[in-house]
Amino acid sequence: MRATRPLPRDRRLPPRRDLWWRGAVLYQIWPRSFADGDGDGIGDLAGLTERLGHIARLGADAVWISPFYASPMKDWGYDITDHCAVDPSFGSLADFDRLLARAHALGLRVLVDFVPSHTSDRHPWFLESREDRTNPRADWYVWADPRPDGTPPNNWLSVFGGPAWQWEPRRRQYYLHNFLKEQPDLNLHRPEVREALLAVARFWLERGVDGFRLDAIEFAFHDPRLRSNPPRRAPPVPGGAAPGSPWAMQEHRFDKGRAELNALFLQPLWRLTEAYGGRVLLGEVTGDRARARIARHTNGGGLDMAYGFDLLSGTITASRIREAVDAMGARIGRGWMCWAFSNHDVRRAPSRLRHPDPPDAARLLLPVLLCCLPGSPCLYQGDELGLEEAELSFEDLRDPFGIAFWPRFAGRDGCRTPMPWRADAAQGGFSTARPWIPFYAPHRRRAVDRQYADPNSVYERLRIFLAFRRGEPALRLGDIRFLEVPEPLLAFERSRRGRRLLCVFDLGGEGGRVRMGGAAEPRFFSGAAVHGTGIDLAPWGFAVVLLDGEG
Ligand code: BGC
Repeated sequence: MRATRPLPRDRRLPPRRDLWWRGAVLYQIWPRSFADGDGDGIGDLAGLTERLGHIARLGADAVWISPFYASPMKDWGYDITDHCAVDPSFGSLADFDRLLARAHALGLRVLVDFVPSHTSDRHPWFLESREDRTNPRADWYVWADPRPDGTPPNNWLSVFGGPAWQWEPRRRQYYLHNFLKEQPDLNLHRPEVREALLAVARFWLERGVDGFRLDAIEFAFHDPRLRSNPPRRAPPVPGGAAPGSPWAMQEHRFDKGRAELNALFLQPLWRLTEAYGGRVLLGEVTGDRARARIARHTNGGGLDMAYGFDLLSGTITASRIREAVDAMGARIGRGWMCWAFSNHDVRRAPSRLRHPDPPDAARLLLPVLLCCLPGSPCLYQGDELGLEEAELSFEDLRDPFGIAFWPRFAGRDGCRTPMPWRADAAQGGFSTARPWIPFYAPHRRRAVDRQYADPNSVYERLRIFLAFRRGEPALRLGDIRFLEVPEPLLAFERSRRGRRLLCVFDLGGEGGRVRMGGAAEPRFFSGAAVHGTGIDLAPWGFAVVLLDGEG
């Protein structure tokens, strides 16, 4: 039975009591490259705390912080040895408490990354589990005997390349790893494992976090019969695989996206968070049939919002956005989406437009457009500055994914270079030391200090837009209806309780014209002239106008 069916009504959770996150603006921080407080070249919690004002001033409502837990950093923090400890390179638990207090004082909620589907191969649980087949944690990971010819038990592949099985000589068995071989998969079919993970969640809830972003959550359960995946017939879907990766050649029917996820893990975790009040669960949902699963998870299935990949890869065009948002809207019911154009895993958005070096107008258009879509937008550090992807040489790569797939795919380092804080400072003001990954010199001209000083900068304009958005429930919570306009234009109406806002964008840098039926009042625009019968857009122009002269 596939996991794409909606949950029966009697198995759905009730709605949350506190819905603060609906329509909120999230800001994702990848802490290693955000701000270095202690001058060792690595971003840390103290540096981040000092810079929280930048995010609050922008007008975000919440931050999601990528992992800062104890880790050998094989996958830069997504390989965890202790879910309840801060890695020394990031600071200490006391630093985290200070960060949380400062964020709350600034009015920012804090979501932390929670990685329940795998650990590091140096996690004490795994070190114990791998010893033999009888130890108390023998079943905490996914172990399997070889086939009679010594090969792995089935055809499952790792997202990061090669088979998903690694041989362990102590047990004379294979273990499953959906990502690096240093990231063994936990066996969530075992109730003790789920209890241990809920204890991790409780630990952070007690410290006061406002929610979790659930990493790779659909990999948490596998088919206990270990059936092989069928070959893929349909074209690849966004998210996950590197271009040309064999992982994309399978239909992932048995290694992920399993139906048990809701009842066995997401719903108990949701109940735990609801007992604390005002918390939120944001889950990463990617791959085949993601839309159906998003609908299931966010309609009482245990997730509040789903973080989808439809807008995170490929060229950003008007038709792709329309298709993704429309298709999701048709399915999502009372569920909720969290849309993003950039994150720590994908090419930065301005580098995914059909233009080699888009002007500032285009770099502003992207986050404004994102924040006009229904759901909760999630900006990635640097989106507010209009940063493009850093182009790195092979020698500068740090991401094992990119190193494995070079030169077909350069990996994820180009969106992980240090934040440019001060245009004239060494390392862009990120650190006083040589950073762990090179600072990308072309980002200097978009440094934070320059943008604060220029009222027309991407940051300052976006800040004004977010202040406007805050007072517009139609943009935060309204319905959406797309208008028929030719590519590369995108036009849609957001409406709530009779208030209608028309949002139009030129995503091709060609300019154009959108006709309107009646009177309209421009509310926020750039490169746009609004008159009686329509809106004229300059290249990369956009406008948000109030229809029918209301307001
Ligand atoms: C994270 C990646 C990470 C992977 C394995 C993804 O969903 O966003 O950065 O490498 O999970 O943890």
